[in-house]
Amino acid sequence: MSFESNDKDKVKSTFESGAQKFDRIYDHSENKSVFNRWLDRSFRQDMYLRFERTLENIGTNEIHSILDVGCGSGRYCIEYLKMGKKVVGIDMASNMLKIAQKSCYEAAPDGEIEFISGNYMEHQFEQKFDAAVLMGLFDYIEDAESMLKKLKTDVNKLVIASFPRSDNLPNKIRKFRYFFKNCPLYFYSREQLERIFLSIGVDNYTIKQTDREYFVKLHLKSTEQV
Ligand SMILES: C[S@@+](CC[C@H](N)C(=O)[O-])C[C@H]1O[C@@H](n2cnc3c(N)ncnc32)[C@H](O)[C@@H]1O
Repeated sequence: MSFESNDKDKVKSTFESGAQKFDRIYDHSENKSVFNRWLDRSFRQDMYLRFERTLENIGTNEIHSILDVGCGSGRYCIEYLKMGKKVVGIDMASNMLKIAQKSCYEAAPDGEIEFISGNYMEHQFEQKFDAAVLMGLFDYIEDAESMLKKLKTDVNKLVIASFPRSDNLPNKIRKFRYFFKNCPLYFYSREQLERIFLSIGVDNYTIKQTDREYFVKLHLKSTEQV
């Protein structure tokens, strides 16, 4: 087994066992413990902000089909379905997909959605998508450039992704915690992202900085602003 596939197994196993706990991050009800509400307020604001920003960008008339890479428990997919979009969600963790399937069906029983269980890098799609969303995914990707190259072949218009910042102290502490969870983590600088985008031939992009991450939009057709 190569080092890379071993890393993938570690990420998969982290999310297989943590699927329910991850999904609860999006639960804003009063049922949450005081501690979890404090965690949400203190450390998860970037997650909620990227959720809102993504939906704003996906809600336009130009976007009909969406590929959600690392769709997790499907919280984004639910919203795309409510907007009437056609959705494909792919994830390595089957426990995440089980939650996603159930909640998407409950929220939008007539929604057009397909779930694929597996590693995005190993999956060949028969169609191209208007947009791809990769939220909270590049944290676990050793070779971001190869993944972005593949996205260029799978997507026509827009790629939206989050990249955790390498210069952020809570992220450094998180790396320490994940070391004990036996899960690899990768962080990025703005310069590194710009180098990667240049190298894959994308010159039309925006990088918005938040406390802990970069919210990136790659426009794959330079003449088309989505
Ligand atoms: C932090 S979760 C984010 C879930 C969702 N995007 C969200 O923001 O709510 C990251 C997800 O990416 C999945 N993942 C990581 N690497 C992957 C890969 N190469 N192919 C498919 N899924 C992957 C994990 O299994 C996990 O469910």
